[in-house]
Amino acid sequence: MTTRSALTRWAAGSLALFLTVAVACAHDGHDDDHRHDHDHDHEHDHDHPPIPVPEPEAHRPSAIPDRIIRTFAGDTARTIAVTWRTDSSVAKAIAQIAPADAAPNFGASAKTITAVSQPLTTDLGPARFHSVVFSGLGPAQLYAYRVGDGANWSEWVHARTALDGPEPFSFIYFGDAQNDIKSLWSRVIRGAYSDAPKAAFIVHAGDLVNRGSRDAEWGEWFQGGGWVNAMVPSLPTPGNHEYERVKAPAPAAAAADVNAPAVKPDEHSAITRHWRAQFALPEHGPPGLEETVYYVDYQGARIVSLNSNERQAEQVPWLEKVLADNPNRWTILTFHHPIYSAAGDRDNPKLRDLWQPVFDRHKVDLVLQGHDHTYARSGLRAYNNVPTGLSRRDDGGGTVYVVSVSGPKMYDSKREPWMIRMAEDTQLYQIITVRGDALIYEARTAVGDLYDGFELRKKSGAPNELIERAPTTPERRRPAKPAAAAAAR
Ligand SMILES: [Fe+2]
Repeated sequence: MTTRSALTRWAAGSLALFLTVAVACAHDGHDDDHRHDHDHDHEHDHDHPPIPVPEPEAHRPSAIPDRIIRTFAGDTARTIAVTWRTDSSVAKAIAQIAPADAAPNFGASAKTITAVSQPLTTDLGPARFHSVVFSGLGPAQLYAYRVGDGANWSEWVHARTALDGPEPFSFIYFGDAQNDIKSLWSRVIRGAYSDAPKAAFIVHAGDLVNRGSRDAEWGEWFQGGGWVNAMVPSLPTPGNHEYERVKAPAPAAAAADVNAPAVKPDEHSAITRHWRAQFALPEHGPPGLEETVYYVDYQGARIVSLNSNERQAEQVPWLEKVLADNPNRWTILTFHHPIYSAAGDRDNPKLRDLWQPVFDRHKVDLVLQGHDHTYARSGLRAYNNVPTGLSRRDDGGGTVYVVSVSGPKMYDSKREPWMIRMAEDTQLYQIITVRGDALIYEARTAVGDLYDGFELRKKSGAPNELIERAPTTPERRRPAKPAAAAAAR
């Protein structure tokens, strides 16, 4: 019901009611015609259920910057990358940066740069996305930046650059958020930030949303992270749910995909246009895979994102070079489809055959994955050609593989000997600390309980030492299904 029709009907109503409501309003100090309409609406429309605010309205951009997200686009010690969204009225977007200071007039010394802007028409309507890379910054410095158009500004946001060399740091890692993002994923990112407010960055291992072309889902994702996204840099890698079907023949390179979904001849799967519009990431990946295949160096660790969705073979020579020419003590990889699957009939042997020998050759320490909607963590694993069972070299070195899930969609897990710790029906976040020759890993449940833990120690001339730190609490497993339980009896 509109306010006007409510008023008309209200005016035709009883004078006594008017006096009662007017007196009540005067008494409690509310000078609010809306309150009258609201009260009256309730009397006459109690049989109308509430309706959700339409998505175009709930997620409508304005001239005020929103969806502000900090990322890395290059040198983590000397650059800060930021992306944000406005409506189409903002033709020229700008950003300012200054060394942060306790005195509030720090903005007087701010440097102003013009953003690179692009239109993006989504399923909910037109928008513009803007990005800047502040460069020429100093290592280990606290800056303040803001974004806007000169009249409509964001808040000043604090952002610290990395130290230029090895120095302890922690970061957060999430498996798939994907579903009920506002309702049930928001608590996980907020819990993780509460536990690790000084986190250097956040790794998202793909399937950030369920349908990558749906703007409302990205709206929820940005609501979940809120202002944390503007402060703590994100390192996202794409999942299959960031891909969508496009009505055009597939590019020739797609023929070699090992994970390509079956599509019609005149269709192919392509990453959502939201991805590159809203994340400013390094563009040094293989041609066509920029901002999905990339790496950054952060205080003694190289973090590499691979794109497990397409053109996986093309990424091998790129990865060989990135790992061969790596001065960092630690090497951590993230991609979406797990090398060792934790759930159902979802194993990825082709991807394992293609990529894991490269990981072994270059002694990758840790691989962070998603996709399986369950939790599983390995010991030190090296490649072999046995599709199941323990690796020959489980005790002789290798890489620790993790599959995790942060959102509420849950699958049954397999039980396999390589799983040192597993969980079902459990939303999790991970906090990983790199400190000299030690890497300390913690998985925590959505309510903050420690669920899994280990420490990797570098040994000169020898494989990493793995020290188990998992708590002795029972594994969180789904109750057996009735049919299975009956069969077991
Ligand atoms: Fe997935």
